[in-house]
Amino acid sequence: MDTASRIAANHAIWQRWTALHVPSDFYDVEGFIADPDSSPYDSIVSGLVGDDLSGQRALHLQCHFGMDTLRLVRLGAEATGLDFSSAAVEAARDLSARSGIPATFIEGNVLEPPAELPENAFDLVFTSWGVISWLPDLEPWARTIASRLAPGGVFKIAEMHPTLWIFDDEAEDPELRIKYSYFGRDALEWEERGSYAAPIDEVVGTSHSWQHTFEEIIGSLVRAGLVIEEVREFPLIAWQYTPGMVEREDGLFGLPDDMPELPLTFTLTARKPVG
Ligand SMILES: C[S@@+](CC[C@H](N)C(=O)[O-])C[C@H]1O[C@@H](n2cnc3c(N)ncnc32)[C@H](O)[C@@H]1O
Repeated sequence: MDTASRIAANHAIWQRWTALHVPSDFYDVEGFIADPDSSPYDSIVSGLVGDDLSGQRALHLQCHFGMDTLRLVRLGAEATGLDFSSAAVEAARDLSARSGIPATFIEGNVLEPPAELPENAFDLVFTSWGVISWLPDLEPWARTIASRLAPGGVFKIAEMHPTLWIFDDEAEDPELRIKYSYFGRDALEWEERGSYAAPIDEVVGTSHSWQHTFEEIIGSLVRAGLVIEEVREFPLIAWQYTPGMVEREDGLFGLPDDMPELPLTFTLTARKPVG
């Protein structure tokens, strides 16, 4: 299967998943509308973006149906979200209207951004949790980030650590078993029953994902002209990636006490130089 067909299959999955996610307990849309500040970012993301984005023009890449985009607005930003799923963008606009939190949502592929996403226009480009695995190639992703940042603007990402990719996330037992090469280049295929946020017993399609090493992540950003300012690693992640993971503080998950700690999440901040 060629890469374009894999991306088309992923797009179909996200159209379907959006319909499942909006009414899900996992996202709790009604709770968000009732009190948007009752479910702030987890401690990793909030440590990354800070608590005051006043006056910042923010672009949220792969924004899904916009909840995290609207959280940027609650912190003071003027925010734009980009996602390739028309269902997600429509749901994001609806959530913005229902919550009374203004934001702009644009439909488009982060690898080939639409012309309506202005260049050199954002002080902050942000993306988080479950994003780069959907992208076959990080070079165009990094170029989108660099071209949309204003000179002096910063890119911030919180994402699953590349080391975690090597483990079998479908194993029943709590042990971590190495299944995948850290340097794997081929697309991985998953038959999806429901989704991570909506565990229904129905096959909704096949998703396709790609691993990316730290060298690729950092290298793509550097080659796009950004200057890396900070990289951090955490023994916690936002979802239960393997069955043995246990819930720790703040809804984040970690390995059980009898296992050595591993990096499960990284955050990174990179700046577009002025001039
Ligand atoms: C796991 S979600 C991001 C979740 C977000 N952190 C949240 O919790 O709401 C990944 C998003 O990436 C979007 N996506 C996947 N591939 C994309 C692409 N090539 N361009 C733009 N959006 C894409 C999907 O539509 C989906 O909304």
